[in-house]
Amino acid sequence: MSWHATILTLFPEMFPGPLGVSLAGRALREGIWRCEALDIRSFATDRHRTVDDTPFGGGAGMVMRPDVADTAIAAAMPDGDRRPLVYLTPRGRLLDQAMVRDFAAGPGIVLFCGRYEGLDQRVIEARGMREVSLGDYVLSGGEVAALALLDACVRLLPGVMGAAESAVEESHSAGLLEYPHYTRPAEWQGRAVPPVLLSGHHAEVARWRRHQSEAATRERRPDLWNRIQVAGTQAPA
Ligand code: 6GU
Repeated sequence: MSWHATILTLFPEMFPGPLGVSLAGRALREGIWRCEALDIRSFATDRHRTVDDTPFGGGAGMVMRPDVADTAIAAAMPDGDRRPLVYLTPRGRLLDQAMVRDFAAGPGIVLFCGRYEGLDQRVIEARGMREVSLGDYVLSGGEVAALALLDACVRLLPGVMGAAESAVEESHSAGLLEYPHYTRPAEWQGRAVPPVLLSGHHAEVARWRRHQSEAATRERRPDLWNRIQVAGTQAPA
């Protein structure tokens, strides 16, 4: 059975989009995963096919109606569908590689893409939707976030990545940022490659790369760095 992604969106033409090419595109054609985009508007019931309304309590923007959203979700998930239902919102829990691994290991995912100010909170609760965010910035809708989340999942499915790419995932699992990379020419615009990389001393190269990873993580991502320090000082169980 293929890993099955269903996307609920007002812009189904955005899928598979960039996931129709390269690694994910080949996997799609090979049937390793399925990508099904449903138009939320097709579940509207009134003459004007309305999907949103003004917020109770006042304020700017529009809110997606719970009745239309719920009908769309019911159509996407037949009874017994065991896939997680994710609502993409900047209010959500931050997506990380552990969450991605979890999603990729299951039967697939159902993604609800918000537009406007957001989705009525009651349908989020009634359906037990998992609210997920990509980071602390605002996108104009959940679609681009959905594409990023799907890309991260699909590349982990068996048969999608070659051995070389898989090795990169392993190094990232250590929780450090990657070391910098260099290729020919050894000198370019007066800039030399770090000499250790030309030395042929594999142990020295590994030591240098480890140092670069640690320095970059400490400097750029103190949040990740502190987590590693804490994890490393835990007393064994
Ligand atoms: Cl999941 N949605 C939107 N609209 N903006 C975001 C986001 C999601 N994650 C970061 N910014």
